[in-house]
Amino acid sequence: MASGVSQSVPQLAEWIEARVQPSYRVAEERVIVTPPRKVIVHIATSADGYIARPDGDLDWLTTRPAPAGFYGIDAFMRSIDTKVLGRKTYDASRRLGAKFDSKTRTIVCSRHSPPKDAPPSVEFTVQPIDVLVQRLRQSPGKDSWLMGGGDIIASFLDAQAIDEFIISVIPVFIGDGIPLIARRHRHVPLSLQSTEKFADGVVQLRYVVNSPV
Ligand SMILES: NC(=O)c1ccc[n+]([C@@H]2O[C@H](COP(=O)([O-])OP(=O)(O)OC[C@H]3O[C@@H](n4cnc5c(N)ncnc54)[C@H](OP(=O)(O)O)[C@@H]3O)[C@@H](O)[C@H]2O)c1
Repeated sequence: MASGVSQSVPQLAEWIEARVQPSYRVAEERVIVTPPRKVIVHIATSADGYIARPDGDLDWLTTRPAPAGFYGIDAFMRSIDTKVLGRKTYDASRRLGAKFDSKTRTIVCSRHSPPKDAPPSVEFTVQPIDVLVQRLRQSPGKDSWLMGGGDIIASFLDAQAIDEFIISVIPVFIGDGIPLIARRHRHVPLSLQSTEKFADGVVQLRYVVNSPV
């Protein structure tokens, strides 16, 4: 670069700027367009709105044949890097054999001390929901899956800490049980994003949560 050696300092600065600044601009644009991390509930309910029988029984759900693609759960799993559970859902998942390995961050919300047999990869937290979600949203990463159950979903919803719901409605009435969201007077409008109908009669609804009225 014989001509480069003879460049004056201002010319050299222009040369560097012309080559370096565009990549800064690209980096800045990438930061600007990065979507914020979302908190998404992905859950199955009976057609009458329950996530489990009153005693936690899930046979109406777990004894169904698993269809190919399992209602898009694989693609969803690739979109998240954190699972958040209420303590009772954690207990139920452990009884069903869930291992909670460290590939995905697992956070269990509880107001009590963690059980002694909890895997080391599982974090128990007593943080207020708004603090927990603010920290999740501020750290870089993928979306978070709020797995349930109805009590922790209610706590998150009332803290305006849920962005979307993906609800797989199972074609069965079970008559009584744990509701999708613990009961309380609410008025939270939803925007329907999509519906998908599966061959076994399951309908999957995707909603964006709007601000409460
Ligand atoms: N159908 C489905 O797809 C599906 C999905 C998930 C779960 N389930 C079922 O749902 C049932 C459990 O639901 P659930 O509503 O009874 O319980 P849950 O929401 O799983 O857990 C409730 C517990 O979470 C903790 N918690 C709740 N709000 C909190 C807050 N604001 N701050 C800190 N901790 C908080 C408390 O734990 P502590 O008592 O330890 O303080 C509370 O007792 C299980 O039977 C499970 O199998 C079904």
